Amino acid sequence: MQVSGKVLVCDSIDQAGIDSMKRSGLTVDYRPEIKPPELISSVKDYDVIIVRSRTKITKEIIEAAASAKIIARVGVGLDNVDVQAAESRKIRVINAPEAASIAVAELAIGLMISLARSLPRADSETKKGNWVKKDLMGSQLSGKYLGIVGVGNIGRHLGRLARSLRMNLIGYDPIPISREFISETGMIVTDLNTLLSSSDFVSCHVPATQETKHMFNSDRLARMKPTAYLINTSRGEIIDENALYEALKSGKLAGAALDVFEVEPPTNKELLGLPNLVCTPHIGAQTKEAQQLAAIVIAEKVIQILRGVI
Ligand SMILES: NC(=O)c1ccc[n+]([C@@H]2O[C@H](COP(=O)([O-])OP(=O)(O)OC[C@H]3O[C@@H](n4cnc5c(N)ncnc54)[C@H](O)[C@@H]3O)[C@@H](O)[C@H]2O)c1
Repeated sequence: MQVSGKVLVCDSIDQAGIDSMKRSGLTVDYRPEIKPPELISSVKDYDVIIVRSRTKITKEIIEAAASAKIIARVGVGLDNVDVQAAESRKIRVINAPEAASIAVAELAIGLMISLARSLPRADSETKKGNWVKKDLMGSQLSGKYLGIVGVGNIGRHLGRLARSLRMNLIGYDPIPISREFISETGMIVTDLNTLLSSSDFVSCHVPATQETKHMFNSDRLARMKPTAYLINTSRGEIIDENALYEALKSGKLAGAALDVFEVEPPTNKELLGLPNLVCTPHIGAQTKEAQQLAAIVIAEKVIQILRGVI
């Protein structure tokens, strides 16, 4: 069934999503460079507004969007959309949280190997002409205990990947973890403190909420083994970065890898300067496959909503 309506795409998104909306009968204006003044003056004619990370959909833009039925974010969070203002005007706000799971889980594995084998240092010293082989005695992932904090979409993907590397899984989640997943992976389900004191690697996959803010504080970090590594690809605010700095600096924690920070780009120079910290600039979902899937998922949701199916 064809649908009618006008879609404004304000950020660069994968062509597959645009093609899918056009095939269904929608008129799509692709303006990935649009600036706020232009957006405010032209937004009133559109039924659907699509963004990724660049464009902020503020209250002012929402008030100008007289015809809007849907605001869509081709990504996971909704940090750049004033959801309250949209909902007060009965505009549906949608995103594609499931599209990035594989990409983020694979990055977490990459960060674990980077920490265990000191890959950033191995790379930079070799390129500088320094043969530091004897300093780079690493450890294997196989046989180690991986603690997964938050066993949702990404946590479960990571668990399956880690099992294929012969790691043992420990999991903590306030919501019961499915029996099928536990029997498939052999995950030991426990409380957070037991997970922290038993794991060789701890990987965080929780949402940013009032409850998870600074859930990794000095007390929790002190419960981890001094030989353990902490990996965060979820949200920066769940780790108290000052407490992490102290734990890494004093050797109470062997290393940490962060894809996300309390402030992005990060400003905590002391933390960034530590040799046992590996950093990436929030690239968890930055794969061609995840971006394509997110655009397709959003296009499909837009079409279904306009058809009145969901
Ligand atoms: N680095 C990136 O680019 C990137 C990309 C995608 C998602 N993310 C982030 O990854 C995180 C996980 O995403 P997801 O898709 O797996 O979400 P999800 O909702 O599928 O899973 C989150 C899990 O965390 C659990 N949880 C909630 N509060 C908890 C607590 N206090 N302690 C332990 N577990 C708790 C939930 O019950 C749920 O099972 C989110 O913060 C998301 O924003 C980051």
